[in-house]
Amino acid sequence: MSRLIVISNRVSRPSKSGNQGGLAVALSQALRESRGIWVGWSGEVTDNFTGHIGFAEDEGVKTATIDLEEQDIDEYYNGYANKTLWPLFHFRIDLAEYARDFEGGYNRVNKRFAETASPLIEPEDVIWVHDYHMIPLGQMLRDKGLKNRMGFFLHIPWPPTRLLVSLPHHSKLVSTLFAYDVIGFHTEEWLESFRHYVEREMGGSVDGDFVTVGDRTIQAVACPIGINAKEFAEAAESDEAQDMLSLVRASLQDRSMIVGVDRLDYSKGLEERFNGYARFLKDHPEHHRKLLLTQIAPPSRGEVESYQQIRATLDSLAGRINGEYSDVDWTPIRYVNQGYPRDKLAGIYRAAKIGLVTPLRDGMNLVAKEYVAAQDPEDPGVLILSRFAGAAMQLKDALLINPYSPEEMSDAILRALAMPLDERKRRWRAMMDSVEGQDISWWRQCFTGRLMAVDRETGRVE
Ligand code: G6P
Repeated sequence: MSRLIVISNRVSRPSKSGNQGGLAVALSQALRESRGIWVGWSGEVTDNFTGHIGFAEDEGVKTATIDLEEQDIDEYYNGYANKTLWPLFHFRIDLAEYARDFEGGYNRVNKRFAETASPLIEPEDVIWVHDYHMIPLGQMLRDKGLKNRMGFFLHIPWPPTRLLVSLPHHSKLVSTLFAYDVIGFHTEEWLESFRHYVEREMGGSVDGDFVTVGDRTIQAVACPIGINAKEFAEAAESDEAQDMLSLVRASLQDRSMIVGVDRLDYSKGLEERFNGYARFLKDHPEHHRKLLLTQIAPPSRGEVESYQQIRATLDSLAGRINGEYSDVDWTPIRYVNQGYPRDKLAGIYRAAKIGLVTPLRDGMNLVAKEYVAAQDPEDPGVLILSRFAGAAMQLKDALLINPYSPEEMSDAILRALAMPLDERKRRWRAMMDSVEGQDISWWRQCFTGRLMAVDRETGRVE
């Protein structure tokens, strides 16, 4: 069995609390089975970059990490990754910053990762690079002479060509993707945008899953990521979840709860969500005091100005809505800036009659799937989901809305509150079938199956 080498900015180690993201669970299992290595940033900042590799092994998963310098974090992580690519790829060119220093830092850090990873790699290893922080890494590894099977997965949207061309040196960046053998996206929509770019901007051609530019042909595929559905459904039955469920229910005093859970990010449509909810409160005074919105939003990327701004905006918006509608014994929004471990979160999801997931653009969105998996099959809640989340391609039985429209959001809340049990069960069953069928191991198989079928010598599919 070939070893799997995973390379990503964040390295997730198995944690004993069980509070691990889906990606970490999926990859840890494959790493353990193949005796592979997860390579990435340690999360630590050092005064001077030394290239020292920190090795660790936890629950059978080996990790190799490097510390980065302050300037690396500024230019690569906060800069090119999160001030340039993240907003641009989420269709927000108004927020994207283009600076040569960022691009330079991005390439420098990618080289550092290439230098760290290459001595660890053996000829039979299969390399899987993740996300927008690491696009050129494959090319840099090839430049070092590596002939391994190599795949790349993008966890965020691929933007329309007309937006992507606003990035200086866009074709240089995109051409580095052709160093990989297989590249993956979460949805057909992102895949189509990628193909469109290749045809229009690179003079390339597309034939089914195969994309050719010049004399190089690679595969570009859509594999929607899932969650560990079985484990999440079990988590909702755990003691921790049940304790949380009781705690939340007691605090609700027979009121219905809507829940939102998101990293505090402008792509998540939190401002629009609060405005849509405020619209509901304005239009439906008969529901006052009968429901509340719990928005869980742990802060993220706090050194980036656009994140500081969205945080300030939400603070004041939540305050304004609460100020306008609260009474001495009712507050319409509970706005919480902390995260919760998986089991507790499962209990919170189960306590909510409505899951409100309204990103303006999202590569996939796993909260939508977690909300579904955590429901009580005998009395499931209703998922209201943005049609602009990748998850909407699969969860067609959610109430799909346009998050930019406060009226649509308000109407959907009204409809969800009144939805009969039969309809709730029917919609939930259909969504759960999808969440269980295309779960996290299915996703891993979807991608690595393609990658393993590539012939190492010729780069062709066997
Ligand atoms: C998104 C990205 C991931 C990233 C995560 C958390 O899901 O696709 O690559 O790790 O956000 O963001 P952070 O900046 O804290 O790593």
